Amino acid sequence: MRIGNFETPGNVFLAPMAGVTDLPFRLICKQFEASLLYTEMINAKAVCYEDKNTFDMLLVEDQEKPVAVQIFGSEPGFMAEAARTLTELNRFEIIDINMGCPAPKVVKAGDGSALMKNPKLAYDIVNKVKAATNLPVTVKFRKGWDEKSINALEFGKLMQEAGADAVTLHGRTREQYYSGTADWEIIKELKEKLTIPVIANGDITSFDAAERILDITKADALMIGRGAQGNPFIFKEVNDYMESAILPKEICPKLKIDTAISHYKLALKYKTQHKAVTEMRKHLGWYLKGLKNSARIKDHINKMYEPSDVINALTEYAQSLT
Ligand SMILES: Cc1cc2nc3c(=O)[nH]c(=O)nc-3n(C[C@H](O)[C@H](O)[C@H](O)COP(=O)(O)O)c2cc1C
Repeated sequence: MRIGNFETPGNVFLAPMAGVTDLPFRLICKQFEASLLYTEMINAKAVCYEDKNTFDMLLVEDQEKPVAVQIFGSEPGFMAEAARTLTELNRFEIIDINMGCPAPKVVKAGDGSALMKNPKLAYDIVNKVKAATNLPVTVKFRKGWDEKSINALEFGKLMQEAGADAVTLHGRTREQYYSGTADWEIIKELKEKLTIPVIANGDITSFDAAERILDITKADALMIGRGAQGNPFIFKEVNDYMESAILPKEICPKLKIDTAISHYKLALKYKTQHKAVTEMRKHLGWYLKGLKNSARIKDHINKMYEPSDVINALTEYAQSLT
């Protein structure tokens, strides 16, 4: 699909997720055919101030491209300057603006989903970011702030007028955070209303959910978040099903553990040992979920600090399953 002047190689995208979609996880999702990868949300001001930790989060490998970088903030000047800097890095194909994050710390600063309550400012941000970059600019937002102020349709139209090249809609309000079910009907209505591409997001956890959301919304692309945690295989499953009607086989435990080990090794390659070991615990928990006796092995590896011990324990566990 085309987003501005960029043609994505497919239409099954990995959602931006803070603390999850770092370089190692993105590489794993790419291996299983995610069409477009989003970074974790990046603080625009921190980019402008050349914050070292933020720049560490901006590392990209050629083999994962195309990559969309997502920025958050609410000061148009900083957002535009960050967009300019990120464009000059020459690493990203798309700049996405976060207008959906529900986290209290973020909305208190007027960022993320708080921008849905301030459409004029949101317009100004998109307008200034567009003027600062020749990359396509996209906006990710929610259904509205709460049930009493649902404004995704007007908001999406405004983002289009401000120059957005595509929008992603997560069919929940800010007040819902991640609870309840995502409203796919409103995504359909937005798709009918806009001329720019609409990316559908929320509760796509299987190939058949992907088929249903496409059917209902007629969206141009799908974006998968939690459904990819410990389950990067979902991208290939959805692609195979959509391209050739191939029904996915159950993922065998060995593939899950082998993938978890590859992911672990990538984390060790790109992060300090301490960071890799602690951050990978949640990913390992997701990979192991539902496997035989997995609570015991999870408990066991969560107490380990030596990476080789973790890898050995996982290898032994995989052998015990065959
Ligand atoms: C752990 C976590 C972190 C997230 N971080 C971000 C983020 O940085 N930027 C963003 O736009 N959305 C973020 N989201 C929201 C997801 O991108 C997505 O919109 C939401 O999870 C709904 O999609 P899903 O049902 O496929 O998970 C996050 C979600 C989760 C669960």
